[in-house]
Amino acid sequence: MIYGEILAGGSGTRMGNTEMPKQYLQLGTKPIIIHTIEQFLVNPKFDRIIVCCPKEWISYTKDLLLKYDINNDKIEIVAGGSNRNESIMNGIKYIESTYGIKDNDVIVTHDAVRPFVTQRILDDNIKLSKKYDAIDTVIGATDTIVNSKDGKFISEIPVRSECYLGQTPQSFKITKLLELYNELTNKEKDILTDACKIFTLKGKQVGLVNGEIYNIKITTQYDLKIANAILMGVNDK
Ligand code: CTP
Repeated sequence: MIYGEILAGGSGTRMGNTEMPKQYLQLGTKPIIIHTIEQFLVNPKFDRIIVCCPKEWISYTKDLLLKYDINNDKIEIVAGGSNRNESIMNGIKYIESTYGIKDNDVIVTHDAVRPFVTQRILDDNIKLSKKYDAIDTVIGATDTIVNSKDGKFISEIPVRSECYLGQTPQSFKITKLLELYNELTNKEKDILTDACKIFTLKGKQVGLVNGEIYNIKITTQYDLKIANAILMGVNDK
């Protein structure tokens, strides 16, 4: 089975004071999360699509689907967790208890707040997940990346041609992700903000898929303005 998992369990603090978590804010004619769900629905390769959202927003999310005429029994809404990885794991727990997990089952995890994911990116993730246990979507860095351990002085300037910026989707063989995640200590779980890092820490290969520069994560009010501009560009085509 190929599962899509849309991560919408965050509260969007960096967006500033908004009446709702950023994934529910309007982008053009519909909420950000609806754009993202529609991209997953268009792709016939997904057997099921799990949307993880804050517990107290579950019924709101269900109402939104009705409002935007998304009446598809592939979609299931479950409660997210206290951080992004916990949201991923809550979706997996739901899959495990509802469908059971088989060796080749794959989960394509994606930020709800990246509404411009393309079918090509989704297809490349699914294709490569047959070859590797973990996949990350990235774009090449155009600016030089500067590493500083203390925020005051440069610690290192890595070679730019070897630097990439991480996007999503990130895709995993579910059994492998579970196996590695369960080996982590609570402290390691706290510092691992990126699910692919679980694999790299354990010395496992993570395959790369090319993202798109416009596959942005809407984090701040400024990003929302950029997203509206991107949307206008898409509609102009
Ligand atoms: N996410 C999630 N569960 C969490 C935290 C985050 O599913 N407990 C999701 C967010 O909803 C978002 C994605 O992960 O779609 C990327 O995270 P980020 O942009 O950091 O979202 P927030 O945590 O909501 O934002 P902030 O850090 O500004 O509060």
